[in-house]
Amino acid sequence: MTPAGVRAFTHHGHRVLVQKNAGVGSGILDTEYVRAGAEMVEGPSPVWAADMVIKVKEPLSEEFEFLRPNQVLFTYLHLAAEKRLTEVLMEKKVTGIAYETIQEADNSLPLLRPMSEVAGRMAVQVGAFYLQSSWDASTSGKGILLGGAPGVMPGHVVVIGGGVAGTNAAGVALGMGAMVTILDLDVRRLEYLEHIFKGRLITLMSNHDTIESSCIKADLVIGAVLVPGAKAPKLVSRQTIAKMSAGSVVVDIAVDQGGCVETCRPTSHEKPTFITDGVIHYCVTNMPGAVSHTSTYSLTNATLKYGLQIADRGPEKAALESKPIRLGFNTYQGKLVYEQVASAHGIAYTPLHL
Ligand SMILES: NC(=O)c1ccc[n+]([C@@H]2O[C@H](COP(=O)([O-])OP(=O)(O)OC[C@H]3O[C@@H](n4cnc5c(N)ncnc54)[C@H](O)[C@@H]3O)[C@@H](O)[C@H]2O)c1
Repeated sequence: MTPAGVRAFTHHGHRVLVQKNAGVGSGILDTEYVRAGAEMVEGPSPVWAADMVIKVKEPLSEEFEFLRPNQVLFTYLHLAAEKRLTEVLMEKKVTGIAYETIQEADNSLPLLRPMSEVAGRMAVQVGAFYLQSSWDASTSGKGILLGGAPGVMPGHVVVIGGGVAGTNAAGVALGMGAMVTILDLDVRRLEYLEHIFKGRLITLMSNHDTIESSCIKADLVIGAVLVPGAKAPKLVSRQTIAKMSAGSVVVDIAVDQGGCVETCRPTSHEKPTFITDGVIHYCVTNMPGAVSHTSTYSLTNATLKYGLQIADRGPEKAALESKPIRLGFNTYQGKLVYEQVASAHGIAYTPLHL
């Protein structure tokens, strides 16, 4: 949480405990939290003793001991991929409200959006970096500046998937002066992209042929597709990667859903890239973690209004008054109350009763 977030909670009459040095990784000092009205506490246990715990990532196994009945846990949970955590939250009767399942009436997922915005923008930044030449020829990018230079062609960026991440990637690539092609399956989305970017990029209907022909001419390919509730389709084949020129770069943002590039496998910030067929692959599953300051501010901006509603009214009343918050409930009083998570694990689903 940002200091402004802390201030909002204290203004609403809540007591806010922040673990000492919690903000250091995001460039936020303890003194800033104190000025905003927080009490700084040593170690994790006093924070976990609170009625409501706000985090970024799902609890780690070493945090399981702090979970207890009726505690409200408001964070990314991603329980469909975490059977053990699901069971622990049920056993400990935690009220688990997941950022990623809070859903507005237009079906948008407002607490996933900020991370896709950040990852989309960052994809161009890291892609531009890896396109630079390096002294080691075996790991060198093509030596291309995305914006080109007067009298020299700019780089060509291909973005597959024109949703939140893809649109943000396209915007940054255009801002850097690159030539941009964006592909999507949704004609209305392509119309929207043409409209907002005023014809400064090429929109293409996504299919096998358009993906192959645009990727083999690209310097930087950004994978940004999402099929809700499913693994990402493998849209860029191994053969297409082999036809790309050496030193080109692929950033597969969709790696957290399995990746939309056949040659992609998950990487980490410690070792973000690998090379297949001369093409540099960047497939980090948690890209926003590398820009923690921006991500923290962006996430608090999005979570704050829901967090305040939950804290002000209590989780039950907040859920009764707000359908988006109700959809955020994953575990409640020992029951699994989110259907897709229940079917992912073969655990009984219980509709939420408040
Ligand atoms: N790696 C990370 O750190 C990170 C961070 C945030 C988001 N993500 C991932 O980024 C991906 C994109 O997220 P988003 O929020 O932009 O999703 P979104 O739903 O806003 O957009 C996805 C787009 O993909 C399009 N699409 C679906 N199938 C397609 C196909 N066959 N060809 C072309 N386009 C197709 C959809 O029409 C949609 O416009 C997701 O997989 C998400 O999990 C990863």
